[in-house]
Amino acid sequence: MRKTIVAGNWKMNGTSESIRTLLADLIAGVPAVEGLVTLVCPPAVYLSQVKAQLGEAPVEVGAQNVSAHPLGAFTGEWSLAMLQDLGCDYVILGHSERRSLNGETDAEVAEKVAATLAAGLVPILCVGETLAQREAGETLSQVAAQIDAVLQRVGTEGFASVVIAYEPVWAIGTGLTATPEQAQEVHAAIRAQLAGSDAAIADKLSILYGGSMNAGNAAELLAQQDIDGGLIGGASLKADEFLTICAAAAESRK
Ligand code: PGA
Repeated sequence: MRKTIVAGNWKMNGTSESIRTLLADLIAGVPAVEGLVTLVCPPAVYLSQVKAQLGEAPVEVGAQNVSAHPLGAFTGEWSLAMLQDLGCDYVILGHSERRSLNGETDAEVAEKVAATLAAGLVPILCVGETLAQREAGETLSQVAAQIDAVLQRVGTEGFASVVIAYEPVWAIGTGLTATPEQAQEVHAAIRAQLAGSDAAIADKLSILYGGSMNAGNAAELLAQQDIDGGLIGGASLKADEFLTICAAAAESRK
């Protein structure tokens, strides 16, 4: 069975104090279930603090971005070696906010995925269509093109260690959520795209849904055959909401 992953993308939120409280609540309530990975992705400046507080708790830590360069004159960036040094195992890459606000291209995202795989960390590759693309009937072709750019760079074998997050751009932070059927259609298409070259890798691939997933809608999204978890923004900042989603994910594995 594929892994189910519930990842909190805290984006640029939190203080050392609010993070201490949130994590204490998460540690107290997180379900320890075989095959379920619970993950938090704090702002990079808090990674050390989070890692130290988690100790042996069954919660993994990820970054929200990384440079593809190994080191050097890249002011404001951090490297994979630094994330390794902090004990960070996952990296969100190609989030739509980085694509739209920081101009990250498919080629740059592919380069980051390749560097992350080479360093032995797990990339969480974000893909998704804008509202205009959905309305133009271009959802599946847009998502396929974003994945293809990475496939060209790391090959299908690379996807044995990649997690994909399908995040419709129009659903991120808007309170609008893809219906379970809309999400399932895209998730199934992503799996079919990979299955075209390697059915076993496609079958093992965890494909997360992201975009206003919350305590109220998680269970029905996670019940879909090809939805293997969630990448949660706003709802991951509230321990009770996030833990309800984790519980729904644990339930979806039964
Ligand atoms: P949201 O964010 O849950 O607040 O919509 C999801 C994301 O951007 O990863």
